[in-house]
Amino acid sequence: MPVIRLYPSGNEIPCPNGMTVLAALEAQGWALPNNCRAGTCGECKVKVRSGTFDQGFVLDMALSREERQQGYGAMCMAKPLSEVLEIEWGTVDAKPTLFPPREQVPHVVVDRMDRTPSIVELRLRPLDEPIRFWPGQHMQLGEQPLHPMRNYSMANAPRPDGELTFYVTREPFGQTSSWLTSSVDVGDILMVNGPYGSFIGDPAIDTPVILIAGGSGLAPIMSLTEAALRRGFSHPVKLIFSARTPADVYPRGQLAYLERRYANFEKIVTYTRHPHGTDCAQEPHYHGRLPSLLPSMTVSFTGTSVFVAGSEPFVGDCTNAVRALQPAAIYTEPFTDQQGDISSLSILG
Ligand code: FES
Repeated sequence: MPVIRLYPSGNEIPCPNGMTVLAALEAQGWALPNNCRAGTCGECKVKVRSGTFDQGFVLDMALSREERQQGYGAMCMAKPLSEVLEIEWGTVDAKPTLFPPREQVPHVVVDRMDRTPSIVELRLRPLDEPIRFWPGQHMQLGEQPLHPMRNYSMANAPRPDGELTFYVTREPFGQTSSWLTSSVDVGDILMVNGPYGSFIGDPAIDTPVILIAGGSGLAPIMSLTEAALRRGFSHPVKLIFSARTPADVYPRGQLAYLERRYANFEKIVTYTRHPHGTDCAQEPHYHGRLPSLLPSMTVSFTGTSVFVAGSEPFVGDCTNAVRALQPAAIYTEPFTDQQGDISSLSILG
């Protein structure tokens, strides 16, 4: 069986025939960054030091011709052809940190709520051993062959009973999102694959945290926020949410609870499509695109850990805005279109 060797740690991970490098690493708990898992984003790109591999289909915007010539590969689609494939990734003392993903784990839909005209909240509870995950990660939901498996971030922190909360955005041309939001109902059984993703909150973080969400990027941000506060994180935790209108701040109750329960938590909301008006007095908020608003906010980013989730342009613009303001450690989760489906891990905002 081929082996993936990590440089410089020298760790060796078996890669069963037909498995991608990313899947093989995840199966052993290695957190190689990734996002689309389909060769379109470039998040899983690494330098291959030796060995040969079948790259599979990867878009040029994810892996350019020059990068291919320099020996880079997109590991979500790469399958080893040689006995050993050595890739440059991790540190000398790198260790696996993820929970290996599981497949086809049956869950019952225990709750379904229309949060906005386009967003449905689904709560699933496992019939089997709960799937363990890190806050910020995502699962895959779907029902082959009609409803392809799609990525959806959990919006809640891990719970002992394994319940998973998802915010699913209804998209007119999304086979899976249309099915999840229109046909799936309480009592139905859904098969869940996961967890996936490396946008995780490191429990070792010892700085104030600022979490920035655009649209459906709110799901992983809520998961990270809830998990940090529940485990007694003592530094300030600030959540900045860019929504279109007040109606899009759908977890308002959960946010209010966190504000009352944890003195170190604060939320800031901004609206992109809510003109100044009479209801502006109800709750403090900002108007406009968040990247342009960040410099005018009384938020200090110096020495903080910043997590940003949302559409690719949103994440890119916010990251640039933060970098231009003050030095901070920035972790990002840019959502990409999942070939027709746009999910809680995808574009919105
Ligand atoms: S290109 Fe590999 S995760 Fe997106």
